[in-house]
Amino acid sequence: TNPKTVEINGKKYTTDSWFNVSSTTLSLTSRKLHLQKDHPVAITRKIIESVFPGPTYRYYNDFDPVVSTYENFDSLGFPPDHPGRARTDTYYINKDTLLRTHTSAHEAELFRTTASGGYLISADVYRRDEVDRSHYPVFHQMEGARVWDRNKVPNGDLAAAVLADLERLPKHDMTVEDPNPPFHPERNPLQAEYHTEAEAAAVAAHLKRSLELMVNEIFSRARAAAAAAAAAEAAAGRGAKKGKPATPPSDGSGSADEPLRVRWVEAYFPFTSPSWELEVFYQGDWLEVLGCGVSKQELHVQAGRPSQMGWAFGIGLERIAMLLFKIPDIRLFWSRDERFLSQFRGVEDDLTRIRPFVPFSKHPACYKDVSFWLKGASAAGGNLGGAVDWHENDLMEVVRDAAGDCVEDVRLVDEFTHPKTGRRSLCYRINYRSLEKTLTNQETNEMHNRVVKGLVERLGVEIR
Ligand code: PHE
Repeated sequence: TNPKTVEINGKKYTTDSWFNVSSTTLSLTSRKLHLQKDHPVAITRKIIESVFPGPTYRYYNDFDPVVSTYENFDSLGFPPDHPGRARTDTYYINKDTLLRTHTSAHEAELFRTTASGGYLISADVYRRDEVDRSHYPVFHQMEGARVWDRNKVPNGDLAAAVLADLERLPKHDMTVEDPNPPFHPERNPLQAEYHTEAEAAAVAAHLKRSLELMVNEIFSRARAAAAAAAAAEAAAGRGAKKGKPATPPSDGSGSADEPLRVRWVEAYFPFTSPSWELEVFYQGDWLEVLGCGVSKQELHVQAGRPSQMGWAFGIGLERIAMLLFKIPDIRLFWSRDERFLSQFRGVEDDLTRIRPFVPFSKHPACYKDVSFWLKGASAAGGNLGGAVDWHENDLMEVVRDAAGDCVEDVRLVDEFTHPKTGRRSLCYRINYRSLEKTLTNQETNEMHNRVVKGLVERLGVEIR
């Protein structure tokens, strides 16, 4: 029942048995929220671009989401059995073609074309995932990279050239915790066959300062927005009492005079070493905001530029936009409702106008449960309940197809294995709640019926 071909952004692709892209997800490939004027995702992109100025950095905002399996995984050194490749997690057009799961899919190509300086990509990325207020099958990432060429730096001294560039970067007043040494032989190794310690340490230092500056820019703007909103409230007489200065919001974003806190944490990516994540202390929690590292030298070699080395990072934009604008539900980004979009008009060209989003009324939730037996259960007591091929993400796709953005979240509430037959039964609770209107009973029932029908027809479950 899969289509033989699909068209994405004007190009036709032939599907095969690997095809698993739902029509809802396919329809989102043309939206390009990161390029939509005054959209919070686009505004977030602009803020990040402002920290990586041209001509040193070139911007690429128009890469097509359809890439090869090779570009998305193999070229970056993902092993053949890496879980990220699974069809339960990744949207495939066919065995060799997929919707990129990250902007790193363009690294190999850009390392080839980047003769010096760096680049920034912004793009939509796709991952099969659960349904809740912070997950959506499409989101946006930015990826940045910077390279230096041994053959082009003074005296061939790459480390010195990188440190000179670091000196030219602005300073900041954040509190930075960076407890680990730049490399660790097992946890976070230096690429000793390619880089000297001095070179890698210099590149790591340039990377860290650059990303600290980016995070400082983002979070200073988030604080300024919250403070401006609080001041407006106070002026309207709802906030501080007369004679008392307006107090900053007690949401943990901190007052402007309290320095921001960030920390570097060791990480692993197949295409960088050493690697880190950067975390920010925000609203009482350590929040992971990006992944990065010193690029694997094999990528530069493959790109035909073996004398270059450098760093790369990737950051998810929705997550940042959600805290910048206090957007409570990721579905809102896809809304065409004026009550959402109008709140950001004029902000892209004047970032001082960033203000927290004012939610429009919250509509009632309607919970409905669905219980079913998984298929493939063997009464003969086969493989541990017999559930072959079950993956929750497949259910999530069925729900998204049947009810789209009218579902707020989906949760497993009960799980049961029949003691005699070994059959496994699951019960999921679906929370129907539109962001835009109150759903009628009839609308909710119709959606729920479509979910049930989809589960039976597409996943072969037996409703209890
Ligand atoms: N692509 C990685 C992700 O999506 C992030 C990353 C980019 C890490 C570049 C290192 C370097 O998680």
